[in-house]
This record gives sequence, structure tokens and C-alpha cells, in this order.
Amino acid sequence: PVTVFPDSIAASNSVAARIAALIRDKQSRGETTVLGLATGATPVKVYKELIRLHKEEGLSFKNVVTFNLDEYFPMQPNAEQSYVTFMKQQLFDHIDIDPANIHIPDGTLAEADVAQFCINYEQKINSYGGLDLQILGIGRTGHIGFNEPGSAPNSGTRLVTLDDLTRRDASRDFGGKENVPTKAITMGVGTIFKAREIILMAWNLKKASIIKKAVEGSVSSEVPATYLQLSDKVEFILDQDAAAELT
Ligand code: F6R
Repeated sequence: PVTVFPDSIAASNSVAARIAALIRDKQSRGETTVLGLATGATPVKVYKELIRLHKEEGLSFKNVVTFNLDEYFPMQPNAEQSYVTFMKQQLFDHIDIDPANIHIPDGTLAEADVAQFCINYEQKINSYGGLDLQILGIGRTGHIGFNEPGSAPNSGTRLVTLDDLTRRDASRDFGGKENVPTKAITMGVGTIFKAREIILMAWNLKKASIIKKAVEGSVSSEVPATYLQLSDKVEFILDQDAAAELT
């Protein structure tokens, strides 16, 4: 299903409210909530609202475990552009989550150790009973996580090569495309699909044409986000601009 909101603030608040309801519901039964998280511009207002719900409405993250989708490779966690830094600044430093419950792919590994790390990442997700909810943005290549065109629907967590357009889109954060890492560790399409609920969010006109392809185009590895059409546990949450080209 596709839901279009008048603007990204209303959309983000509704996603945050759903996350909060999930956490509170599971908490009331003494259960842990397992969230799959994304970085980038898209989820920032969701995280802002979750912080507000924590500070003003008593929402606790003590029983929440998180797994982030991806991290650049190589990447030092304390680097300004790392997804570790992003998540701390945008969410984790402002809520009561136990740091031991936070999982982000490790950009500091030797390349030879990445494959085993990825197997362990999948096992860790499974050990918590799987992801309750995965939130996603979408790249202009049609990537989800860093599953670029060509990614298989059953792909697992792995080391990938970033598309040129993805590196161009990241160039501002790195002060030039040449400084953007060429690789990343990402959850696979198959990993994402194991989540019990999936929400893909997109805002602004610059996402309108890839959203049209993702929602209405034929399912193809050329646009990995089209795989999401195959599941009814997926919801596309859009603002009016991102939905502008939908028929
Ligand atoms: C981030 C991620 C990416 C982004 C996508 C959109 O963890 O996995 O798929 O969601 O590149 O990025 P923004 O939100 O910056 O437009």
C-alpha cells in the first residue's frame, strides 16, 4: 500500500507514532522490539519525533534493539561521515537505549573478515527473533540499504560496490566524490524482506521519478526497490512531491 501525506513532517510523525506504539505494545508484554534503521536525510524527522516522544511523553528505548542497514567501507566509527556518528547525533545520544543493543555494520574490518562478520550480523538479528520493523529510504538508483542495481532478491548482508550516482549523491558530505568510499557493508534484500513490517519513506521531487519506478515499474533487479512490490507487509509512505509522478 501507498500512503501520501501532505508533507514530510506529517508523514514522519505518523511513522514515529507507529514505532512508538510498537515499542509500547511489546514493552507492555515484557518483550523486546527489534528495529531495522536507516541513515540519510529521509529518516531524520522520524528520529527527531522519537526523541521528542522520549523526552516529553515518556517513551523508553530500554527494551529496544537496533540494527542499522549499512555502513561505508572502509569507515572509522568516529569519522564525521560514518553512520555510527550519524546515528549518535540524530538519535542514540538523545534517548535511553542501551549501547549494547545498538548494531551497525563494522567499517573497520579487514576485507578478509567481512564475510564472517556479515554471517554473524544475520545470526544476531535472528537471535533476537528477527526484525519487527525495518524502515527504509530509497536512493536515486533504486537502492534500498546499499543494494544497488543488480542485487538479487535473496541477497544477504554483504560487501557491495556503490553505484556512481550513489557516490555522487554522497559527495557533499565527503567534500568531493573522490573521497566517498567505493564500497559499503549492507543488509541484503533478503535480510530486509525477513522483517515483519517494512516502511519505505520518500520525500521531495527529486525522488518522484524513482518512486514511480519503484511503485509502478516492472519488478527487476535494475531497480531493487521494485522487489518491495512483491510483499504486502511493505508500506510506501510518501509526501506529495515524492508521489507526484504516480498515476
Ligand atoms: C541509508 C540507506 C540508503 C538511503 C538512501 C536515501 O542507511 O540505506 O538506502 O536510505 O540512499 O538517502 P537519503 O535519505 O539521504 O535521500
